[in-house]
Amino acid sequence: MKKLLVTGGAGFIGANFVHYWMAKYSADKVVVLDALTYAGNIANLDSVKDDANFTFAHGNICDQALIETLLVEHGIDTLVHFAAESHVDRSITGPDAFIETNIIGTYSLLKAAKKVWLDGKSILAGHRFHHVSTDEVYGTLSPTDPAFTEDTAYAPNSPYSASKAASDHLVRAYHHTYGLQVTTSNCSNNYGPYHFPEKLTPLVMTNILHNKSLPIYGDGMQIRDWLYVEDHAYGIDLVLNKGRVGENYNIGGNNEWANINIVNKICQLMNQAFADNSGLAQRYPEALAAISGKAESLITYVKDRAGHDRRYAIDATKTRDELGYEPRESFETGIARTIDWYLNNQRWWASVMDGSYQECVHQQYDK
Ligand code: NAD
Ligand code: TYD
Repeated sequence: MKKLLVTGGAGFIGANFVHYWMAKYSADKVVVLDALTYAGNIANLDSVKDDANFTFAHGNICDQALIETLLVEHGIDTLVHFAAESHVDRSITGPDAFIETNIIGTYSLLKAAKKVWLDGKSILAGHRFHHVSTDEVYGTLSPTDPAFTEDTAYAPNSPYSASKAASDHLVRAYHHTYGLQVTTSNCSNNYGPYHFPEKLTPLVMTNILHNKSLPIYGDGMQIRDWLYVEDHAYGIDLVLNKGRVGENYNIGGNNEWANINIVNKICQLMNQAFADNSGLAQRYPEALAAISGKAESLITYVKDRAGHDRRYAIDATKTRDELGYEPRESFETGIARTIDWYLNNQRWWASVMDGSYQECVHQQYDK
């Protein structure tokens, strides 16, 4: 039985990981630590909040004393670190929060873990610090370059990826220098339920439902490798249970799409959903383009993102060969599940988009 501290567990991937973990390992204790920034939503944890094995702690990963208290009081042996500022566009307009949370926050977690697990009277055997990172640390590829392996040199290009790269290096150093038992996973772009609608795939889905334009940066030919979020949770599960301490593992979907093509694909699936279910036009009367089978007419090319990476691609051979990892969801089924989730969870994304999801944060946590 493990006792997990999951940082950033109220965000997109963290919440999906908590759902996955508590369904699979129901005897494990899970403590979520989350600052509930704009990207964190306590409602993402509604389905587990009454479970006796679940605890929510509202706080910041930069607060080393709080982390130490949580590690000691809950007897934590496994820390899974998702908390981060995660949106590249925001890192371009306001890098400070990325440096603070992604670098200083990770450093604070490492210091707390070292102090509690290594520096006490006895070392906690079997502890694990798992750091969740991104393929963006490897930089950008041309269309013909081989995919990123774990040995690809880091070459981050955005303030976001640079801050994640810095945190990866700190995690590595804490293993090499102090013997902290760490693992790191570098994953490609995720999609799925609870994805904040500032990111490409949920933005396209929710904009179609509001008949708003679908912004394509530059020529739309930038390539990303898309992975269903539950498969990311599954990959982390394998790294935690079978991964070698001190190692990095790439997790990807073998599923490269140019942005314009994935947006067109989502448009076609939304058109089809409206054609198959006449009730959707009543529920979403604003969605005029999708109702008339032409969601793609909303596509609008806009100015490119500064420093926009052209292509990311993951070679996950090591993770497959060592851990037996293969994504379990196909893109067809994963994207269909995701569209279905957004069509059936209007309350969730409407409250995220109008900001009302933050009201309970202010009511419960503001002094
Ligand atoms: P997200 O932005 O949806 O969620 C981040 C969560 O962290 C939120 O709940 C937020 O409240 C919390 N948080 C932010 N700052 C905090 C702080 N200082 N203290 C405590 N909590 C804080 O992000 P996500 O998309 O779920 O990404 C999770 C992790 O996975 C990140 O580390 C990200 O770099 C990595 N990652 C994301 C993707 C992707 O496609 N989204 C791909 C690969 C790796
Ligand atoms: P995003 O979801 O922000 O993820 P990341 O930048 O971490 O890969 O963006 C995915 C791709 O989609 C990226 O190449 C930028 C592009 N994009 C658009 O073309 N339009 C948009 O409105 C957004 C948010 C992203």
